Amino acid sequence: MTVKIAVLVSGRGSNLQAIMDSIEKGYIKNAAINVVISNKANAYALERAGNYGISTVFLDPEEYDRAEYDKAILDILNRYDTDLLLLAGYFRLLGNEIIEVYRNRIMNIHPSLLPAFKGLHAQKQAFEYGVKVAGCTVHFVDEGLDSGPIILQRCVPVLPEDTEEALTARILEQEHVIYPEAVRLFTEGKLKIEGRNVVTRT
Ligand code: GRF
Repeated sequence: MTVKIAVLVSGRGSNLQAIMDSIEKGYIKNAAINVVISNKANAYALERAGNYGISTVFLDPEEYDRAEYDKAILDILNRYDTDLLLLAGYFRLLGNEIIEVYRNRIMNIHPSLLPAFKGLHAQKQAFEYGVKVAGCTVHFVDEGLDSGPIILQRCVPVLPEDTEEALTARILEQEHVIYPEAVRLFTEGKLKIEGRNVVTRT
């Protein structure tokens, strides 16, 4: 059985790229990205998806109120018979109705070791806080901000000569490792949620 994936994006799409590459290389098996949806018309992620022959949709937030916007997303997810929804650099809050319908089937990648540094500019927050270890997190999405059960985390050191940009790049490299890994675990049926805890079966 093929796990049908939809991805929500807003920008560059390097995590989307990592996942598309992992499917193409066979690291993630029995899965296909059926649609990529963006809230930004000029998101480079749309071009990346197009290069892979994946359907893309731009949903203009200006054209809907909040509830209608979520409904429009839900319609597309249903139309593509979505099993798993991935947020990959999607800089907009997801409506509760979508979370309800797709509970435990929505993942997000966040560039910090949650629960530290939630929200925007997590790498900057970590850098300015002076942490010695930073990292990234893949988690299931619930109604809170970056608060759902944690699937995978990876840490990276903060080096004495670091800049925020260097740290951000070091974190991104690990994002591209753990997001495909989390998707692979999901598609292989190896993730089980027990309360806040995601148990990985090997
Ligand atoms: C990544 O740092 C991700 O952790 C955060 O937004 C950024 C998206 O980058 N949620 P990209 O669009 O995947 O290149």
